[in-house]
Amino acid sequence: MGYNIAIDGPAGAGKSTIAKLAAKELSFIYVDTGAMYRTIALALLRAKIDIADVHAVEALLSEISVSIRYIDGEQRVFLGTEDVSALIRTEEVGNMASKAAALEPVRAKLLSLQRGLAEENDVVMDGRDIGTNILPNAELKIYLTASVDTRADRRYKEHLAKGETCDLEEIKRDIEQRDFQDMNRAIAPLCQAEDAVYLDSSDMTIEQVVKAITERARRAEA
Ligand code: DC
Repeated sequence: MGYNIAIDGPAGAGKSTIAKLAAKELSFIYVDTGAMYRTIALALLRAKIDIADVHAVEALLSEISVSIRYIDGEQRVFLGTEDVSALIRTEEVGNMASKAAALEPVRAKLLSLQRGLAEENDVVMDGRDIGTNILPNAELKIYLTASVDTRADRRYKEHLAKGETCDLEEIKRDIEQRDFQDMNRAIAPLCQAEDAVYLDSSDMTIEQVVKAITERARRAEA
C-alpha cells in the first residue's frame, strides 16, 4: 500500500495545480481523477449519447478503455490508444463530466483504476470523493476550496492564458451549476471527509497551500 494523500474540493479550487506541485515535492505520483471522468465525457460527447439513456451509456462504457500513463513525469490520459489529455480541458467536456459523474456505471468503471494506482504507488490523488469514498484510509486528507468568485476568476485567467475567448459570468454560472451537481448527486457526492483538513485558498498563494500540505505529510510520515 502506498502513502496516500487525498485532495477533494469543488471546481476551480486549484486542486490540480496544488496536487501536482505537492506530488513533485514529495516524489509521489499525481493522479488527476477528474481527467478520467472528463475522458468518459469526451467519449459520450463524440458518440452524441444522451446520458439519460442508461443503456446507451453502459454500451459505450463496455467499449471504451480509460488509462493513464506517465510521460516525463506528467500524467497523460488515454481513451483507448489516443492521448486526449489536451482535448478534455474544455468547459463543454467539464460540464458533461459533472453530469456523467453522477451515474453509477461511470463511477464503477473508474473505481478500481483509482484504487489500484493508490495501492501500488505513493500518490497525491485529487477529485471529489477521494477522501470519502475511494481512499477512506488515506494517511492525509485535504478539502481544498475557495470562494466562487476566486475560482471563476482563476478559470477565466487559465482560458485567457491559452488564448481562448470566454465570458467570466458564464464561467461563474458553470462553476455554480457544477458545484450543485457534484454536491447533490446521490452517489459519492462532493463533501468534506470528517478527518479532512479544510483549506480555503482564496487568500493563500499557491506556495502557501503546497507548504500546508507537504508539511502535514512530512509530519504524518515522521
Ligand atoms: O476536477 P475536474 O473539474 O476535472 O472534474 C470534472 C468533473 O468530474 C467534476 O465536475 C465532477 C467529476 N468528478 C467526480 O465526480 N469525482 C472525482 N473524483 C473527480 C471528478
